[in-house]
Amino acid sequence: MEEHEVYSVIGNEGFERLVAAFYRQVPGDDLLGPMYPAQDLHGAEQRLRDFLIYRFGGPPLYIEQRGHPRLRMRHAPFPIGERARDRWVQLMNRALDEALLPDEAQRLLREFFAAMATFLINRTED
Ligand code: HEM
Repeated sequence: MEEHEVYSVIGNEGFERLVAAFYRQVPGDDLLGPMYPAQDLHGAEQRLRDFLIYRFGGPPLYIEQRGHPRLRMRHAPFPIGERARDRWVQLMNRALDEALLPDEAQRLLREFFAAMATFLINRTED
């Protein structure tokens, strides 16, 4: 399977389950919780879900609504060091465990999240 085929395997429903499982953990997380918009978690959930659907071969709803992803720029306001990166990946891996997606789709998603989260690091920690 290739990345652009993931959508045809897990569909909207798979991405919905995954992203919902991720965002359920966000408000209670001491490190990440405070970074996310408490009054608009639903919107944040929708943005991540639409982005992933587009990125993994589904309809480009994200692009239509948000334009070019420019994720490094969009994450610039948030302090992302190694700890935040590791935590984000930990929450997402837990969401993947919970969503029970087919093995090959899971593997591609885990690899993508780890690489993208490292790419988004925007400060060093002491
Ligand atoms: C590394 C740790 C990360 C942190 C701390 C973080 C934090 C955040 C925060 C606080 C937001 C704003 C929520 C909102 O949309 O209102 C956001 C948005 C977003 N994040 Fe992350 N994020 C991280 C990693 C990632 C990764 C790995 C991806 C890609 C898989 C990602 C994709 C997105 C997308 C698509 C948005 C919405 C951008 C927009 O259209 O405005 N983030 N992130």
